[in-house]
Amino acid sequence: MDVPHRTTPPPRPELALVPRPSSLSSRPGGFRLDATTRLRVAPGAEGAADLLRTYLTPTTGLRLEHAEDGAFVLAVDPTLAGLGEEGYGLTVTPGGVLLRAAHPTGLLRGVQTIRQLLPYDALSARPAQVLALPGVEITDAPAHPWRGMLLDVARHFQPVSYLRRFVDLLALHKLNVLHLHLTDDQGWRMPVSAYPRLTEIGGRRTQSPIGPAGSDRFDGRPHGGAYTRAELAGLVAYAGARGVTVVPEVGVPGHVRAALAAHPELGNHPGTRLDVWTRWGVCPNVLGVGDHVLDFFRTVLDEVTDLFPAPYIHIGGDEVPTQEWEASPAALARAAQEGLSGPRELHGWFMAQMADHVVRAGRRPVAWAEDGATLPLTCTVMSWRTPQHAWAAARRGHDVIHADHRSTYFDYARGSGRLEPPAQPGHVLDVRTVYGVDLLPPADEPPLAARVLGTQGQLWTEFVRTPEHIEYLTYPRLCALAERAWDSTDDWRDFRTRLDGHRARLTALGVPHDVLPPHPAHPHDLSRAPRERTKGTVG
Ligand code: ACM
Repeated sequence: MDVPHRTTPPPRPELALVPRPSSLSSRPGGFRLDATTRLRVAPGAEGAADLLRTYLTPTTGLRLEHAEDGAFVLAVDPTLAGLGEEGYGLTVTPGGVLLRAAHPTGLLRGVQTIRQLLPYDALSARPAQVLALPGVEITDAPAHPWRGMLLDVARHFQPVSYLRRFVDLLALHKLNVLHLHLTDDQGWRMPVSAYPRLTEIGGRRTQSPIGPAGSDRFDGRPHGGAYTRAELAGLVAYAGARGVTVVPEVGVPGHVRAALAAHPELGNHPGTRLDVWTRWGVCPNVLGVGDHVLDFFRTVLDEVTDLFPAPYIHIGGDEVPTQEWEASPAALARAAQEGLSGPRELHGWFMAQMADHVVRAGRRPVAWAEDGATLPLTCTVMSWRTPQHAWAAARRGHDVIHADHRSTYFDYARGSGRLEPPAQPGHVLDVRTVYGVDLLPPADEPPLAARVLGTQGQLWTEFVRTPEHIEYLTYPRLCALAERAWDSTDDWRDFRTRLDGHRARLTALGVPHDVLPPHPAHPHDLSRAPRERTKGTVG
């Protein structure tokens, strides 16, 4: 069951902040923003002031210009260093607003709190109400430094114009990582100037399955898309201005069928031509293990690190069938040469080669993994099967990010209602279950908490073609995850009450958080043929 939607939002929006600030107390009165409002923007606060104007000026006409005597103050204040990079303090009185943080990023988080303190309607394209902030005193800082969301743009491509909106929705919830899943069996979206065929060939598949998992029906329509370097650089800057880091994922040595279609020489059967995969599931084809394959992907990673300034680079590592290696004399010889006990160990060996390259570039590799047994400790483990795997990896000494599929995979259905569109089978993930995400270590091992960077939601898009469907699956479930990542307090009743109000913000922003409305076929369907609606992808 999803959280019921209250039609009358609570009268005090400040009671409905999501995520909940570490401390909030109401003060009498409030501050009204109008045409006379001026910002006093202290050095270091320019980015936050620009962001506030970006959100408010186009919709309200308020220019919020700088003035030395402005009543709305944004300032970097080293005395708040104890609140960390992302913490901030906010005071609203009838006489003015004071937003302070030790770091510019904290000010960006405070800007999102200010947006949420305004009337819900202020987030809409045409606010009707007077823009008044309620009197408050807030001190706030996150519990976890990694609060993210994965969007799979490999299975279904989304243009950067949409990704910008996606980033703004993350930022509203004080999330700070957009994990962009750029490559997979069904599509390669990352531009690599050294190897243009990766996107030219690997960026397009001939058709896609339709209907529920395991369906043998195909839509017969090509699907494709790839980003340019300029687009991704623009996205990185856009996200950065909102305090969101774009963490790219280019996965090896499995989930690479699109790369193999473009470059058969990377595979275990270089003479066999493969297409970009048109099925969903785990593809048996994986990378070969020759030096030329390692060099190829080192070059790819060089271009990835060049384009994405993120401190973390995700190198995949999940779901690697080893049958091809077991049958390959070259792979068996490589395993022997490296002193491995057999071809299965080539998986960890391959990941270690790539991880070392990322480390040499001054970045930290992230990998999907279970207990981390085969990975160098330089790898941050993104644990997707069970929380126990995360704790096992933490015990080994890995930093971990909780991505347990049972509480963070938003490709599972939101509920079991008749109108739910086809989704990943096997589990139903409601908001309550997402809220229950387990970030605390076993009671007898408190030191493991220091290894937990945080958590993130995952939206794999096998069954998800459109922005509307993305948002229907993401919200409000991501609100619950954002809450637990920012404020680790477990207080479902309080969250649920605030979520009732917060849904009015999602409505103002046009997020289909309640029902998935009928929506057109995916715009990156490359076919010109008249489109029929895909059964079940509309509500
Ligand atoms: C995964 O779901 N294969 C990371």
